Amino acid sequence: MEYNIKDISLSPKGKLNIEWAKQQMPVLTLIEQRFSRQKPLKNITIGACLHVTKETANLMIALKNGGADIALCASNPLSTQDDIAASLVKDFDIPTFAIKGEDKTTYYQHIKQVLKKNPVITMDDGADLVSALHKESKQRTKEIIGSTEETTTGVIRLKAMEKKGFLRFPAIAVNDSLTKHMFDNRYGTGQSSIDGILRATNILLAGKVFVVAGYGWCGRGVALRAKGMGARVIVTEVDPIKALEAVMDGFEVLKIAKAAKIADIMITATGNKHVIGKETIDKIKDAAIIANTGHFNVEIDLEYLNSKTKNKRVIRENLEEYRLKNGKKIYLLGEGRLVNLASAEGHPAEVMDMSFANQALASEYLVKNKGKLKSKVYVLPKQIDRLIAKLKLKAMGTATDRMTLEQKKYVSTWNEGT
Ligand code: ADE
Repeated sequence: MEYNIKDISLSPKGKLNIEWAKQQMPVLTLIEQRFSRQKPLKNITIGACLHVTKETANLMIALKNGGADIALCASNPLSTQDDIAASLVKDFDIPTFAIKGEDKTTYYQHIKQVLKKNPVITMDDGADLVSALHKESKQRTKEIIGSTEETTTGVIRLKAMEKKGFLRFPAIAVNDSLTKHMFDNRYGTGQSSIDGILRATNILLAGKVFVVAGYGWCGRGVALRAKGMGARVIVTEVDPIKALEAVMDGFEVLKIAKAAKIADIMITATGNKHVIGKETIDKIKDAAIIANTGHFNVEIDLEYLNSKTKNKRVIRENLEEYRLKNGKKIYLLGEGRLVNLASAEGHPAEVMDMSFANQALASEYLVKNKGKLKSKVYVLPKQIDRLIAKLKLKAMGTATDRMTLEQKKYVSTWNEGT
């Protein structure tokens, strides 16, 4: 079997971590049990480009037990957990191409190695596989049943491709399921980004001025959790509705260049480029900590930061000091890559349970609807979303009420007023 990982001898540690995560993933486990019986993915090759974590490992194992042939590469050069990659190869015979800290050339070589397996379904976190496939031959994209996409940034890329008429196969925006973004993006990013900041710095958050750029689902989660730990949270936004929501949620909203003057910590969660840009970098307070939790490492203008830097040194893992020519210092976390995966372990398994239940059911949905879907971006049907929520609630031991017949009737009529 072909693979490229850091060190196969790490597999025992990886196996235990995979087992630990599985314990917190009851919904994916139920799906895996059904997949093992029914084999809905028989004769299907799936190429996955996802963060290689203990949670992803459980998704890969579920798909394999569903009958699929799998190949996996990393969706970010810094997010791979090398012990997990080793266990996937050694214990589960899953061809894996991922090494934490791999350079850009290796990253793209790994994507090519996955595509060499000729997948008919691709599974992306950031749309790099779809993008690479569209750069290959037209014939190749014709063989694809469809693709699934995990993250907001990837969905934005896919929708741009659809709008321009470039997209050549159907794509399921897994991110857009409610059981994905309302939980993974908010509570997952909220907790894991704080976790990343703390593992890199071990600072006290209470009393710090903590600036969150972007008040989408991820930004909301980070702001909520930072507030919960006693930080004075400031939000920056470009969207007036999101800014208004942040104000009414009790946060101060400022322009980013102004916020930079007082921030102890700044974190970007926007999906956009150079959010901590030239003006902000020039105004940033001495000894501020900056980090990004968006998908790509473009949110902080690193080129500009480097051009203003006299010298830099690594203080500890994932914490780099930039000494600027103007005499100030800035501390960059995890090279400006998503801090929750670069400097911590990503979202906890409990939320990835729902995200990856959506991924597993999306791949089954693509197989069931082979040839029926257009080259468009789709959301999974509401029934699938609700089923995942129901299973999760059940696993958590929580019950919901049912509408009475009278109530059902009331909400389906229009003529009963005061
Ligand atoms: N994205 C964020 N957290 C993740 C995790 N734990 N596994 C896979 N992808 C992730």
